[in-house]
Amino acid sequence: MNNAGVWGVDERDIDEHEVKELIAAELTAVRSRSLTYTDADDDLLVRQHSALMSPLVWDLAHVGNYEELWVLREAGGITPLRPEIDDLYDAFKHPRRDRPSLPILGPEEARRYISGVRGRVLDVLDEIDLNDPDPLRRNGFVFGLVIQHEHQHDETMLATLQLSGRPGLVIEGDLPPGRAGAASGAEEVFVPGGPFVMGTDLLPWAYDNERPAHRVDLPAYWIDRFPVSNGAYLAFIEDGGYDDPRWWSAEGLRWRHKSGASAPLFWTKDGGAWWRTRFGRREPVPADEPVQHVCWYEADAYARWAGRRLPTEAEWEKACGWDPVADRARKYPWGDGDPGPGRANLGHRAARPAPLGAFPDGASAYGAEQMIGEVWEWTSSHFLPYPGFRSFPYPEYSEVFFGSDYRVLRGGSWAADPAAVRTTFRNWDYPIRRQIFSGFRCARSASPEEV
Ligand code: AVJ
Ligand code: FE
Repeated sequence: MNNAGVWGVDERDIDEHEVKELIAAELTAVRSRSLTYTDADDDLLVRQHSALMSPLVWDLAHVGNYEELWVLREAGGITPLRPEIDDLYDAFKHPRRDRPSLPILGPEEARRYISGVRGRVLDVLDEIDLNDPDPLRRNGFVFGLVIQHEHQHDETMLATLQLSGRPGLVIEGDLPPGRAGAASGAEEVFVPGGPFVMGTDLLPWAYDNERPAHRVDLPAYWIDRFPVSNGAYLAFIEDGGYDDPRWWSAEGLRWRHKSGASAPLFWTKDGGAWWRTRFGRREPVPADEPVQHVCWYEADAYARWAGRRLPTEAEWEKACGWDPVADRARKYPWGDGDPGPGRANLGHRAARPAPLGAFPDGASAYGAEQMIGEVWEWTSSHFLPYPGFRSFPYPEYSEVFFGSDYRVLRGGSWAADPAAVRTTFRNWDYPIRRQIFSGFRCARSASPEEV
């Protein structure tokens, strides 16, 4: 089999043994990440830091239970190790705010449980036939599922840790410098009208909600070259943007009044200057980084203030992934090659978004930059199924969330892992949420009659 089976559209031939080694390496990497985030006193792990989040020890055992369910039982045919705990880790039976009162495993027991599951998972990997026609087994889909799932929970744990104020997670990474002027917000790129292919049938580890690939014809539009910067967002604040009802939707105004918010989460104004708290460290807000910790309503209001609007999900994906010369979609903005350190800020490399202009080599075919990494970008779209959608392997990953309660975020943040980002990847959340690593960029229609 070739590499396309696991890693996407790369055509290099590699054998099944090599693919299994790559999967094993990804499993090890994601587990070491989870264990790092939960290498803390029991008290920090069992406490609920915010009603929005689970106790960290819940996330930890949940990823192991998910792995047991999908790899061991469904793909491997192995009988349940601890059937009595399944209910506790079913995200649908217990909302996050109720999880601390459940008789969940303590930190030591959780670590023991997930490592016991993992040992057997490696045995299943050893024995599995990656060419098996069963869709769970073929191309190691089930391993891609649990690897991505654990990385997604790791990002959620990081958001919990940020809320907890726990220090020690700031990494002095090697982010490249930005480009002078990039943070002004003035630069846009033009995307000519015409059809492109949205979603994928080719990427074997894509989630059900990214399928099937389908043609979407869009009128011409402009989209920001960069995500909106802290500096540009500050201009909106200083212009009285939070208090001006012209910029807010009716629901946004309700959120604004109920929350009392007047700046992104974790920002404070002190002595005329703006500060942010990042993993327990207080620092001046850097003007040249993408703004983060804004909710959809704030993004929507900013865009209106700027005379623009949020891009639709389709506009976002075309600007990010479409290659009009080759007439096909790319896995990443720059092409199909892996995201190296010169292309994107991913994987908790520095615990912050990079300054704007830091990754010219990561530009898309249309010239949009930093679409992958930095911040999850809010789009104007609700989370809806693509035409021909089929739930796989279970409806609670995507299907039960479809509808107008959620808005789609694209691109992946600095905290997202390369294994769980690509041009087709879809994230979603409630429009009031801002503890996630969320920002946005603006767009406008090229037709003079519309914004
Ligand atoms: C895709 C991030 C919205 O965290 O609720 C984790 C991912 N699904 N476990 C979430 C997920 C099941 C999901 N998001
Ligand atoms: Fe989960």
